[in-house]
Order: sequence, then structure tokens, then C-alpha cells
Amino acid sequence: MIPHRPLPIISAPMAGGPSTPQLVAAVSEAGGLGFLAAGYLSPETMQAQITQTRQLTAAPFGVNLFVPETEWPEPQALEDYARVLAPLAERLGTAPPTVGEFDDDAYPAKLEALFSDPVPVVSFTFGLPSRETVQELQQLGTAVVLTVTSAEDASAAAALGPNALAVQGAEAGGHRATLRMSAEPNTLGVLELLAQVREVTELPLIAAGGIGAPARAAELIGAGAQAVQVGTAFLTTREAGTKPPHRRALHTAAAQDGAPTVVTRAFSGRPARALVNSFTEEFDALAPVGYPYLHHMTSPLRAAAARTEDTEHLNLWAGTSHASCREESAAELTRRFAGPALSADGGD
Ligand SMILES: Cc1cc2nc3c(=O)[nH]c(=O)nc-3n(C[C@H](O)[C@H](O)[C@H](O)COP(=O)(O)O)c2cc1C
Repeated sequence: MIPHRPLPIISAPMAGGPSTPQLVAAVSEAGGLGFLAAGYLSPETMQAQITQTRQLTAAPFGVNLFVPETEWPEPQALEDYARVLAPLAERLGTAPPTVGEFDDDAYPAKLEALFSDPVPVVSFTFGLPSRETVQELQQLGTAVVLTVTSAEDASAAAALGPNALAVQGAEAGGHRATLRMSAEPNTLGVLELLAQVREVTELPLIAAGGIGAPARAAELIGAGAQAVQVGTAFLTTREAGTKPPHRRALHTAAAQDGAPTVVTRAFSGRPARALVNSFTEEFDALAPVGYPYLHHMTSPLRAAAARTEDTEHLNLWAGTSHASCREESAAELTRRFAGPALSADGGD
């Protein structure tokens, strides 16, 4: 089990800025479970965010880690993509993209930090930790959550003995949590995936993907999820660190009752769901398998686009239910989404 919380709402870890300590603490204080996103952070910044979260709340919270890739992309495909991006880099005023070094997101150092100073929950995405890591965290009192997108991956994850699985449906915003970066993510919605995963494990399941309304949260709890993990809807909460152009694009899309999204490798080399814009239209079909190389290749371009509020060249991560995004506090959202879910669960 993960720590018992009065409200079955988890704020999804959202790397790249949105999951601030303020957001995490607000969700946990409201009775849900907030999640820090340690992906892309240095171990020192992760530790600083943990400290800050503890200063804001005594309630439990989680930390999410990216498991390093175990597959090697095709070097020529990376070189080709760097060349394809060059004209845009010039237009945006950044240096021509180059293929950098592999990086493991400082995973070993972050794990060490979480071993020496344990937190209530640690979740993993982009792969599975070793059995020893799962056991070591559990011995320290940390609940371990593994993220999966298929029943097959759920079997592999369950075999490691975690406390729960986060089951991410195709509706989800941001990166798909396929265990292998070369895997083409399936198109199973979270409700169907939840049923398929339930066939292979009795572990507590956390449902994620496209949860944009309290009724949907209640439906998934009614279908057997212990809690729901909500990402996109939190992006427009006041405490989120979402970049202003991203936030604005979500509000614009919501005002138009939604905008198309696409699952694309164009920004990072791993499939991720984003609002369709000029960047996805131009590069989706050309992007190879290649995380984290593409992430680093496009990073200066995205930074330049962010500086000029150019939403056409930013990674506007969004799930399929982004039209429900509104400005509110994270506590309001947590309580609003939990209302009907509590009755679906028979109350608490
Ligand atoms: C902006 C953004 C960043 C994300 N970053 C992470 C991350 O760092 N780690 C992770 O496990 N999941 C990440 N996700 C996926 C979420 O955990 C979750 O599966 C997804 O947000 C659920 O779908 P929804 O966005 O439709 O609510 C991210 C999602 C978004 C929208």
C-alpha cells in the first residue's frame, strides 16, 4: 500500500518545472498525495525541493525518478535529426544542434540521496528499478510505485514486489511511461488498461491519464483504482510552476473547448503527448527513437521559444482532457476531484 490519505487524489509528478514544492505541499495538505518530479533535476536541487516541501507540510508526499535508458539509439539517426533541426535553430537564434553525451539523469546519486534521507513514497518511470533498489527503499519505510502502460509491463513490474503500480492510459499528457524507449505506446484508455492490469496483479493500482473531471476520477475509483493520478489539470493551478506560455496555451485551448494533441517523439526521442503546434507538425514524422539525446538537442530551441513566448515551438505537454484546465488553487482541485470519488469508494 501507499500511505493512507483522506482523499484518493495524487498530483502527478511533472518534470520540467510544474511540480513545485508549493504544489506538492498544497495537495498533501488538502488530503491528497503530492509528488515532486526529480527528473531533469540535479540531486542537490531534488534534495532542496524535498527540504522545502517538508517545511511546508508534515503530510506524506512522493518523489519520482526517471530510470536511465538501457537501449542505444542509432547514431546516424541522431545526427540526421540534428541536421533537420538546424534551420529552426538558426531562426530561433540558437547554435546548431549537436548530438551530446548520454546522461543517466544522475539516477544513482538521486537514489543514494533517497536512501540516506528517505521520503514516504518513491515512484519510477521510463523503466524499472532493480529488485535490490525496491527492497532497500521498502526497508527504509518508503513505499515504491512503478509506472506501467501495458499488462505485460505490469507483470514485469509486479514481479519486483512494489507497493503499487501507476497505470498510465493513452490519454495521459507528457511522456508515456513505456518501459523501453523504442516501444510504440499502445492506445489503450486507462479504464480498459486498468481492467487488463487487474488480470495480472492484485497490487493496489493508481489510475492516470485524461482525468479532467471529478466524475472520471470517481469512475476509475469505482473500477478498482486505489487512487487517481492527475497531471494536466494541475498545470493551470496557481501553485504549479508551469511556464507562462504553456499555461497560456492551455487556457486558450480550454476556451476553444480543446485542441488536438499528438503523441510524438519530436521533442525528446520518447513518445509524449502534447498540443499540436508547428514543431510537432514539422518534426513528428522525422524524429527518431533517441531519449535523452533529442531532449538535450531540442532544449536550447525550447528555451529560446519560451523566452519569446513562442508557443509554436514549445513542448506543450497536455493530456486529452486538457479542455477542463482552469485557474484554481491546487487544494481546490484536489477537493473538487475527490468529492464524487469518495462516494464511489463508499466514503472514507
Ligand atoms: C507536464 C507533464 C510532465 C510530466 N512529467 C512526468 C514525470 O516527470 N514523471 C512521471 O512519472 N510522469 C510524468 N508525467 C505523466 C504523469 O505522471 C501522468 O501520467 C499524466 O499526467 C496523467 O495524464 P493527464 O495529464 O491527462 O492527467 C507528466 C505529465 C505532464 C502533463
